[in-house]
Formats: sequence, structure tokens, C-alpha cells
Amino acid sequence: MLPMPRDLNAAGDIFGGWVMSQVDVAGSIAAMRRTRCRVVTVAVNSFVFLQPITTQYLVSFYARVARVGTTSIVVDVDVYAETGYENLRVLKVATAQLTYVAMNEDGSKRAIPPDPAKP
Ligand SMILES: CC(C)(COP(=O)(O)OP(=O)(O)OC[C@H]1O[C@@H](n2cnc3c(N)ncnc32)[C@H](O)[C@@H]1OP(=O)(O)O)[C@@H](O)C(=O)NCCC(=O)NCCS
Repeated sequence: MLPMPRDLNAAGDIFGGWVMSQVDVAGSIAAMRRTRCRVVTVAVNSFVFLQPITTQYLVSFYARVARVGTTSIVVDVDVYAETGYENLRVLKVATAQLTYVAMNEDGSKRAIPPDPAKP
């Protein structure tokens, strides 16, 4: 993602809520790929901002499944920001862990099926 001026806070850095929103989206994609259904966020287990970022950065979100429960799935998300054209700098700017719950179309919880990639 390339943050826009509208994503800044009053101090001129990227608003933390913007980063949290993108982290939730990235985590939900990893959760949906594993559960193969829609998910809802039930908890943000941890969220740490490590460095401030500005509009000059390209921000990338890397999500991976940490564990799978009966209906819930825990996803770790790391956020990296890169800046500079000739002297590229890449910084880890945030790290988070979120829990999602697998949902049926009618809004009820559903059991997460076994991972087809692990026979
Ligand atoms: C998510 C939701 C369906 C859970 O319903 P529930 O009947 O309370 O579910 P349970 O208490 O049985 O928990 C379901 C699973 O979530 C886990 N869970 C529940 N609360 C949790 C919490 N605070 N932290 C981590 N995991 C949690 C449970 O351990 C369980 O996991 P498991 O099935 O793998 O053992 C319900 O709370 C809900 O709809 N919340 C709103 C979700 C939402 O709108 N999210 C978007 C907000 S921006």
C-alpha cells in the first residue's frame, strides 16, 4: 500500500488506525484462505508499533497462520515499510497477532476443516 496524505495524523505521520485497518485486512485474507469461508475478527491479541512511517513509504503486510483452533484461527502479521529510490531502506514498522472466527453465511460459527495441504 502507498499511504496517502488523508492517512496522516496531526503530527504528520501515518495514522495508527490506518495501519491497524490494513493489518486486519491482511490477516483476514490469510484466515479466509485457510478456513475457506468468511471470517470475523474476534480479537486483536497484540499490536506493537515499532517505527513511525510517512507518505514517502511503500508499506507491505505479511500474514501467516500461527495456529488453528476449532472455529478460531490465529494470524501473525508483520508490517514493513520501504523508502528511498537509490538508497533503499526497509524497516519493520509494526507487528500484530489477531484471532478470527470462521462463519457460515447465516452468521453462525463453523468448524474449520483440516488443512488440505497437510494430508
Ligand atoms: C466472533 C463471535 C461469532 C464469537 O461468538 P461466540 O459464540 O462468543 O464464540 P465462542 O466464545 O464460542 O468463541 C469462538 C472461538 O473464538 C475464540 N475466542 C472467543 N473470544 C476470543 C478472544 N477474546 N480472544 C481470542 N479468541 C477468542 C474461542 O476461543 C473460540 O475458539 P475455538 O472454537 O477455536 O475454540 C462473536 O463474538 C461475534 O460475532 N463477535 C463480533 C465479530 C465482529 O463483528 N468483528 C468485527 C469487528 S470490527
